[in-house]
Amino acid sequence: MSRLVAVSNRVAAPTGAKSAGGLAVGILSALRAQGGIWFGWSGKTTESEPGETKRTKSGGIEFVTVDLNAADFDGYYNGFSNNALWPLFHFMLGYFSFSRSQYSAYCRVNEFLARRLGRILEPDDLIWVHDYHLLPLGGALREAGATQPIGFFLHVPFPNFDVLRTLPCYTQILRSLAAYDVVGFQTDRDLWSFQDCLTQPEIGGRVRDDGRIDVFDRTFRAEVFPIGIDVDECQRVAAENFQSKQVKRLGESLKGRKLIIGVDRLDYSKGLELRFRGFQTLLEAYPAVRGQVVYMQIAPPTRTGVRAYDRIREDLEKAAGNINGLYAEMDWIPIRYLNRGYSRELLMAILRRAMVGLVTPIRDGMNLVAKEYVASQDPKSPGIPVLSTLCGAAKELTEAVLVNPYDRQGVADGLQRAIEMPLGERRAKHSAMLMKLRRNDIHRWSERFIDALSAS
Ligand code: ADP
Ligand code: G6P
Repeated sequence: MSRLVAVSNRVAAPTGAKSAGGLAVGILSALRAQGGIWFGWSGKTTESEPGETKRTKSGGIEFVTVDLNAADFDGYYNGFSNNALWPLFHFMLGYFSFSRSQYSAYCRVNEFLARRLGRILEPDDLIWVHDYHLLPLGGALREAGATQPIGFFLHVPFPNFDVLRTLPCYTQILRSLAAYDVVGFQTDRDLWSFQDCLTQPEIGGRVRDDGRIDVFDRTFRAEVFPIGIDVDECQRVAAENFQSKQVKRLGESLKGRKLIIGVDRLDYSKGLELRFRGFQTLLEAYPAVRGQVVYMQIAPPTRTGVRAYDRIREDLEKAAGNINGLYAEMDWIPIRYLNRGYSRELLMAILRRAMVGLVTPIRDGMNLVAKEYVASQDPKSPGIPVLSTLCGAAKELTEAVLVNPYDRQGVADGLQRAIEMPLGERRAKHSAMLMKLRRNDIHRWSERFIDALSAS
């Protein structure tokens, strides 16, 4: 069997980083089952030329990481990746900015990573590159002479052509994706947008009947591989930690009130301020729930070097303070807002404790928290997710209470429906969703991708 080499900007520490995001959680689960190498950024920057790669083995995975030059890192990660590609790919042009020097740093870092990766590759490796930080990596590896199959999976949405062409270098971005043998997306919509971009007259690509794409003098496959979770692990961890001291304390503090939970990185794409306001509308429109529910939002800071992320933190603190100021009683605070990460064990058990999982991103490639919330529930008395229609998970979890995150009243009505849902309906919905999660779990995701790559 070929060796799997997964490549991503973010590499989870062998012990499992707190709140590292869906990409790290997904790759870690896939590599645990398959074994292989995980190559990427060490999480450190250096003022001088980065030193040698560091190699650590743990649980059948070899972690190979490298530091990045501080100045290049700023343009590559804070700049082009997170000020241009992230907002653009999430259809949020208000946050988008572009600079040629940041794009140059982005390309330089990709070339640097390709050189470092090239040193450890073996001829029959399968190389699987992940996410928007590394779009040009496949092309850079090819230029350096790599002949192994190279696949790319995009964890975030792919924008339609009218949005993509906001980016001055959009043709280079499309060209860089054509250097791979397999390009994977989360949903049909992302694939359609990609195909639509490549078949624009000015690009001149063609999609064959079997789905292969001819463009920029290359032929490659582009397919949908929706990412899943490790359902058994999630269920087990949630159940095992349910009786922990912290979860018991949380339960006692609720004093019989129903818990609504939100768990997200503190990212503007997660729609947190709108979510707070939707909860406020619930309190306004359904006064009987006042004092009967608690909404706990866990949101650890992320990408703190990017200005938009600092701003959202301030906005949310204001919104939570404002809503609590309006509605709190001496013995009840409606919103508990926690700005920190938690261990996976505790997090899964907290999800199990909540009667409603409030997951309302304004755009999200998939959203693993929605899937984890469903998997972590007690099947005898499961809670229900209130889920945004604008995330990939909504395509699969159609039994969730689906809401448009921009519609405050709709979010409030959805919450009320979930809070009041009879046990029989909750059970039926939960078992239907769980079946889908099992059919398309994290193992199936990586097997399908690796099969497609091996066959390319
Ligand atoms: P994203 O990848 O955009 O962060 P996802 O919902 O797809 O969103 O994935 C987030 C992952 O990070 C999930 O596996 C979730 O359990 C984990 N996570 C999110 N917030 C925290 C937190 N506060 N502490 C620990 N893990 C977290
Ligand atoms: C999302 C992205 C990942 C990223 C994660 C955490 O899941 O798709 O590529 O790793 O967010 O963000 P960070 O910038 O901390 O790596």
